[in-house]
Amino acid sequence: MTAIADLFRGPVAIETSALWLAEHELYPEERAHIQNAVPKRRAEFATARILSRRALAAVGAPSVALVPTADRAPVWPSGYTGSISHCADYCAVVVARSRDVRSLGLDVEDLRELEPTMLDLVLTPTERRWLCAQPATLRPLLPIVIFSAKEAYYKCQYPITRGFLEFRDVELAIEWASGTFEARVLKEGWPAAVARLSGRFLVDDDRVGCGVELAQD
Ligand SMILES: CC(C)(COP(=O)(O)OP(=O)(O)OC[C@H]1O[C@@H](n2cnc3c(N)ncnc32)[C@H](O)[C@@H]1OP(=O)(O)O)[C@@H](O)C(=O)NCCC(=O)NCCS
Repeated sequence: MTAIADLFRGPVAIETSALWLAEHELYPEERAHIQNAVPKRRAEFATARILSRRALAAVGAPSVALVPTADRAPVWPSGYTGSISHCADYCAVVVARSRDVRSLGLDVEDLRELEPTMLDLVLTPTERRWLCAQPATLRPLLPIVIFSAKEAYYKCQYPITRGFLEFRDVELAIEWASGTFEARVLKEGWPAAVARLSGRFLVDDDRVGCGVELAQD
């Protein structure tokens, strides 16, 4: 997916690649973190750490071990923020200096139709009605775009709230022509700073990518 950079407007650094088993390039504490994982997960984790360090170097960050917290959220060097996503054989990372961007959310998914059970989990009633009104050629694609946009939104809001949301707690308004969306939290009392964020999406032959960024005040 070549155009991940188009998902963000702030000064960010982006790295993407196929997954590879780069464990020998990891810090010992990173290797320890995935020592019992299956090879696919080790490749995802290792690729993401190497790409993250490359992207962080591009925005001036030191090279440090990037070991996630117990809730799986990434931990960035002080003064930097970012987001990681991987799908079948692909990894993408976006980072920025915190003084430029407060938080970032990136998600990539293999392009696919969502099963009916997933549709029930992901779509709100309003989104279902909107989907039914879309051109028949687009309709099979749109649920994975909504899924991915909600994941990108979730990753962006998490460092601010540390709060969990179900897919149906978030409602999207998608503008297909401009490749943009707005994510709005339906749950009462969600922090105002992240209760409504806009994002961008792109779709190519193989994947969908979504980006959400929260600017600094
Ligand atoms: C965080 C989550 C969205 C990740 O999505 P995923 O499809 O499993 O996987 P992706 O490859 O796109 O992303 C994985 C990366 O997300 C990042 N991540 C994990 N938890 C995160 C969190 N709470 N906040 C921000 N980023 C997180 C990690 O960097 C991870 O990569 P790593 O383990 O190699 O470091 C998902 O696992 C999750 O926790 N979902 C629960 C909440 C949710 O999805 N609600 C519905 C949307 S509102």
